[in-house]
Amino acid sequence: MTTILITGGCGFIGSNYARYVSRHHPEYKMIVLDKLTYAGNPENISDLKNNPNFSFIKGDICDEKLITEIVPKVDYIVNFAAETHVDRSISEPDAFIKTDIFGTHNILEAVRNSSNVKRFLQISTDEVYGSILEGSFREDDPLEPSSPYSASKAGADLMCLAYWTTYKTPILITRSSNNYGPYQYPEKVIPLFVTNLIENKQVPLYGDGLNVRDWLYVEDNCVGIDLILHEGKLGEIYNIGAGEEVTNLELTHLLLEMLDKPKSMIRPVEDRKGHDRRYSVDCSKLRSLGWKPLADFKESIKQTVAWYQANRAWWEPLKSGEFKEYYKKQYRQMV
Ligand code: NAD
Ligand code: DAU
Repeated sequence: MTTILITGGCGFIGSNYARYVSRHHPEYKMIVLDKLTYAGNPENISDLKNNPNFSFIKGDICDEKLITEIVPKVDYIVNFAAETHVDRSISEPDAFIKTDIFGTHNILEAVRNSSNVKRFLQISTDEVYGSILEGSFREDDPLEPSSPYSASKAGADLMCLAYWTTYKTPILITRSSNNYGPYQYPEKVIPLFVTNLIENKQVPLYGDGLNVRDWLYVEDNCVGIDLILHEGKLGEIYNIGAGEEVTNLELTHLLLEMLDKPKSMIRPVEDRKGHDRRYSVDCSKLRSLGWKPLADFKESIKQTVAWYQANRAWWEPLKSGEFKEYYKKQYRQMV
């Protein structure tokens, strides 16, 4: 029986991918390992808990003993576990270095020492390339990360590539653009803005609002990840993006329109420090494996908005407690 270990499977993309695996590989034994940080929520995979092939371990990828015990029992590993929010990395970088670099290294060591693991897929990000005003980055372009978050992800990528070169540890890397969809923690721009607007609160738009992001529906990312896990070439990097580039201002206007709110709900605030202007990745390498994004941007944003409207019980508790404290600090820094 094939066993897959999904680390960070209680977060946004990891939980969507765990659900994808249960649908597309029902015969796989699936282990979700997650530390359950503020961003990890067991609710995100509550529908999987009665599946006899599914098990959950509350644990930290930095825990050497735990990782050394589990890794030799699995065939595939997909590592989503990370600290992921750029703004938090700017105010408190430590956890990013620990989880994103050291945690990944911990898994690499365990994979290197196990002959059972066939493929270890590291989930990285388009942010490792840095900002690009024109054109798109290819997989062999140099890395120029701007934030402590993207620098820690770049560090993990380089460790994976070094393990491939040095030990032939069977790694693969995906670098995707901004994801959106259900179960995204409401600190990220789309769920933050949608839930604020549902609550009739203003939305804090950074700087001039002209920074560009390429929006990828999470389901399309899951299809790409699964294809790369099974058919990608070991030691290789694959970009994943939808080519749906919009400015934050355009995105905000779209959300206002969908939720029938006036432009006065936009609150211009101080820009993010080191704010990357534009991300863009060339995905021809993945497309040559037969992948293409299937989601229609406007339609999928509409479905995403509808999901947050229908699932207040999921996000309302997340916007109290720790989140409120975090936001109080953030707003103090804003003009
Ligand atoms: P998320 O913040 O929603 O979830 C991260 C998950 O990792 C949480 O469940 C958290 O509890 C878990 N985690 C954190 N530290 C851990 C540790 N030390 N040990 C075990 N579990 C730990 O993140 P996401 O948005 O789903 O991102 C998942 C991955 O995809 C990350 O590696 C991120 O860098 C990458 N990525 C995200 C996006 C995006 O738009 N969200 C785009 C490109 C790449
Ligand atoms: O590009 C992939 C990356 O996308 C992932 O690697 C990261 O984990 C993920 O968090 C995301 O990073 P971004 O910084 O692009 O996402 P975020 O949702 O934080 O911000 C998107 C854009 O919106 C960015 O230009 C900043 C802006 N923004 C964000 C917030 C939270 C605002 O204008 N106001 C806000 O309140």
